Amino acid sequence: MKRIFSGIQPTGSITLGNYIGAMKQFVELQHEYDCYFCIVDQHAITVPQDRLELRKNIRNLAALYLAIGLDPEKNTIFIQSEVPAHAQAGWMMTCNVYIGELERMTQFKDKSAGKDGVSAGLLTYPPLMVADILLYNTDLVPVGEDQKQHIELTRDLAERFNRKYGEIFTIPEISLPKAGARIMSLQEPDRKMSKSDPNKKATIALLDDPKQIEKKIKSAVTDSEGIVKYDKENKPGVSNLLSIYSIFSGKSITEIEAMYEGKGYGDFKSGLVEVVLAEIQPIQDRYYSLLESTELDEILDSGAEKANMEANKMLRKMSNGIGLGRKRK
Ligand code: TYM
Repeated sequence: MKRIFSGIQPTGSITLGNYIGAMKQFVELQHEYDCYFCIVDQHAITVPQDRLELRKNIRNLAALYLAIGLDPEKNTIFIQSEVPAHAQAGWMMTCNVYIGELERMTQFKDKSAGKDGVSAGLLTYPPLMVADILLYNTDLVPVGEDQKQHIELTRDLAERFNRKYGEIFTIPEISLPKAGARIMSLQEPDRKMSKSDPNKKATIALLDDPKQIEKKIKSAVTDSEGIVKYDKENKPGVSNLLSIYSIFSGKSITEIEAMYEGKGYGDFKSGLVEVVLAEIQPIQDRYYSLLESTELDEILDSGAEKANMEANKMLRKMSNGIGLGRKRK
């Protein structure tokens, strides 16, 4: 069975962008692949975090993984910092990447622009992500479009490492969703919807209550034309809402345009609220009951155990390839 690895940072509230770009793919692909789904808490500390908030967000994200429908019997669900091989392999990858390659990463440029006291970790974050993926002989990495550059770097570094130290790594492929690889902000539809956006009206969190979701959709920026039509260039707001509608309803964009022909944005937005809530409310119900259960910690314990076993095998191969320590089998 082919292998999948992917991760999400336990920071802020998980958004509809994360759900559509990454999590929905996890749910769909879990039946065909041997999957490792990680809560990448070591990535989260590249920017300052409140310790109690971080702890809470880690557990909450684990509950959300299960609530969206990931089967803990089938998938390995675990917390990155509970598998030390990630940081160890991350260091080896840091020594195999060029500073110029890291400075070119658009996510680094975006996150560091205009900030004082940018941590070195923000710059060296991609080799940790590379290690996350390569430790598991990963064939496929389901992510949203904003991670494309990081996956390309992963492939480059895997090939570089293999050339230097022998055929150690599988070269992974990226998997982008067929639609919704880049969900845009509801307030500034030329920018991506992001967990860290300070304007809460711009993002829908998967755990927003239904009233909030309705309010945010109703106040999403559109245009003055009043026609429900997909035109990314000239109608970015409406086009983004149409994509979301299509993904949640299973209807094509053309079908939805036809449904709302001659009707205004009010009706369209009400319809959108309905289809979004129909999928999200059951997830929220499962989420709140899972948080109360002890099942969650058992799943994370056995996930860490399995991930440690698998990752340590690869770590030994890497160490042997480089010549670190004494030779081990
Ligand atoms: P993170 O936590 O920022 O985002 C998690 C996933 O959500 C996707 N995503 C989106 N997709 C569509 N539209 C959006 N507006 C949107 N916003 C976010 C992201 O593409 C991602 O798939 N570096 C990663 C975490 C990571 C990782 C890994 C991922 C660490 N190690 C190994 C895959 C494999 C990140 O910060 O994602």
